[in-house]
Amino acid sequence: MQKILKSQGAWIGKWTFILAATGSAVGLGNIWGFPYKAGTNGGGAFVLIYLLCILMIGIPIMISEIIIGRRSGNSPINAMKKTAIASNSSSLWQFVGWSGITAGILILSFYSVIAGICMNYIFISAFSSGATSSTDQFAEVISSPLNLVLWHTLFMFLTALIVSAGVKDGIGRMVKILMPMLGFLMIFMVIYSMINGNFSQAMSFLFAPDFSSITSETLLQAMGQAFFSLSLGMGSIMAYGAYMPKDQKVINTSFTVGSLDTLIAMLAGLAIFPIIFAFNLEPNSGPGLVFISMLSAFNQMQFGQIIGPLFFILLSIAALSSSISLLEPGVAYLAEEDILSRKKSAQVISFFIWILGIGSALSFNIW
Ligand code: ALA
Repeated sequence: MQKILKSQGAWIGKWTFILAATGSAVGLGNIWGFPYKAGTNGGGAFVLIYLLCILMIGIPIMISEIIIGRRSGNSPINAMKKTAIASNSSSLWQFVGWSGITAGILILSFYSVIAGICMNYIFISAFSSGATSSTDQFAEVISSPLNLVLWHTLFMFLTALIVSAGVKDGIGRMVKILMPMLGFLMIFMVIYSMINGNFSQAMSFLFAPDFSSITSETLLQAMGQAFFSLSLGMGSIMAYGAYMPKDQKVINTSFTVGSLDTLIAMLAGLAIFPIIFAFNLEPNSGPGLVFISMLSAFNQMQFGQIIGPLFFILLSIAALSSSISLLEPGVAYLAEEDILSRKKSAQVISFFIWILGIGSALSFNIW
């Protein structure tokens, strides 16, 4: 007989699931991945392919993950196991859950280092006089192992603190604060860019379609981006599905989350690229885009010491609402199996991720 597994709780109200899942989806991938990929891979043509990937692959997989999670009410490992047994299949399907949790842990180990740099930049952009070039500034930041590890520690600590407080009082409560802040900051940044940046050039960079630059590589890029952006295959959505109210509509909810995630990715492009073009900076992706090009723009613009920190607060919030969803699946598993209390589970797994993350931090400098 299967033992009864302890449930980790439930979201209160249907908006909590939407906010939590959108928080999981909206992360660094939306802000420094999507806009650049769209701009350099055929603009509107890429956006079209991306939308098809979201609609035809991403949302159906999200629906499946939520249904599997909700039916069992358990962590991805046990959710997969129960679902497989209930449909007379091998319990080895639980390895899908294990692989999701492993992926989540590995992603979080480097995500946390980058998110730590985002938090560090809240202060760097506020106090930067522009005397040091943004390239030198970034080199200085990543050349210090101590600095990177310190901010990585702080970010992992925050993530662990929220997750250990539980589904309702930790994650649920935090997303209700973080997500409206994220939405407000994003709209503010877009309006600021519309008024002060080169908005038309950004629109054409992001959306003017160029079908001639579409290759099979583009399709893979769009699909990879869709998976990463919707947090699929990382256990997060399945774990969150376990706490979804039974009367909430899964299909409508998945479309809402997918649409909000895509909307934020596009708004991120409209917040960043008008500024990049207004200051004649090179469009770029990843750390180069936000830590070098954007800092250089903030150094040159009026009120840059206010707009800059707001931008990096936005990035940090996006990263934090994703990181808690990457930690949750493993924590839920250890707690429901009664291996450790929820609080201890969060501490132990976070510590393990923290150790792995040190490897990422050192890869920027001494390694
Ligand atoms: N979905 C998260 C992101 O886009 C992991 O960053």
